Amino acid sequence: MRKFFALLMVLSLILTVTACGTTTGSNAPADKSAEMPKIGVAIYKFDDNFMSFVRRAIETSAKGKAELILNDSQNNQSTQNEQVDMMIAKGVKSLAINLVDPQAAPTIIAKAKAANIPVIFFNKEPDASVLKSYDKAWYVGTTSSESGVIQGKIIVDAWKANKDKWDKNGDGKIQYVLLKGEPGHPDAEARTKYAIDEIKAAGIGVEQLELQTGMWDSVKGKELMDAWLAKHGDKIEFVIANNDAMALGAISSLKANGYFTGNKYMPVVGVDAIPDAIQQIKAGTMLGTVLNDAKNQGQATFDLAFNVATGKDVLAGTKWKLDDKKAVRVPYIAITKDNISVAEEAYK
Ligand code: GAL
Ligand code: CA
Repeated sequence: MRKFFALLMVLSLILTVTACGTTTGSNAPADKSAEMPKIGVAIYKFDDNFMSFVRRAIETSAKGKAELILNDSQNNQSTQNEQVDMMIAKGVKSLAINLVDPQAAPTIIAKAKAANIPVIFFNKEPDASVLKSYDKAWYVGTTSSESGVIQGKIIVDAWKANKDKWDKNGDGKIQYVLLKGEPGHPDAEARTKYAIDEIKAAGIGVEQLELQTGMWDSVKGKELMDAWLAKHGDKIEFVIANNDAMALGAISSLKANGYFTGNKYMPVVGVDAIPDAIQQIKAGTMLGTVLNDAKNQGQATFDLAFNVATGKDVLAGTKWKLDDKKAVRVPYIAITKDNISVAEEAYK
């Protein structure tokens, strides 16, 4: 009899232990990370001012929803290609890709297609025909030309209001230098063209003193501005930059050359409205910029990547809309001292 009870005790113990071991009941804390889909993200380089804000927005949006595998492609397309292979091998359910080279979209699509994984490109727009070639590919970004048009308008308005002071040689034309972003980048090409077209369309003459690429980079912007000031000095009447990082580099060169003290002034415009640029606008050392909405672009990139990773319609439950090129486009906004709070809000 005692043996029987002992056996019963042992049996019930075993039962309790097994029961505990397999408990997934409602009281047990759910292991969320096990349920969260993996999403593979590649940024063309972490060392890019504006993209660091887009990255932060993606990370914030992903919290508690998805496990991100984040890659710094270090401005090297073959590195990015390997990262994509690696992410696919790790079982990502979708990809969010900020291309290094916009022309490399077909390579990425071929990899995604072979693994039947959807891909959301962002910030560097692939050709529409390439997006069309894969039914599981989309784009999140902006309408590049819009930033050029808006920047041109800021230039026109300010020039008209200050012509007497700013037209130093009194020829009625704007003698400008232009800091271009990465050549071949849709944003750089469109901003360069449309900003100048807008000035011309307003009936203002222009003379290009210099145009070179600063590769979106502040240090390069400063180096170019140093050289241009040494060469042209006061003949320069306007500094037009494809982005804020280069504009900020130009401003530090101008400061080192005695500008922004006394009545020595130079109008400088950029694009992005990153916090450092907002500071310069407030201080009066930068005329204006164009808000490139990092927060909403990051949010939209994640929303789309998450939807397709979980088998939903790409736009399910979001406020975003696709155009006929399978793109979500976040609008740009002109930023000057008058509406600086709009930019501050967007980069909070
Ligand atoms: C642009 C932005 C630049 C740079 C570039 C990278 O939209 O204005 O500052 O970040 O994207 O692709
Ligand atoms: Ca002039």
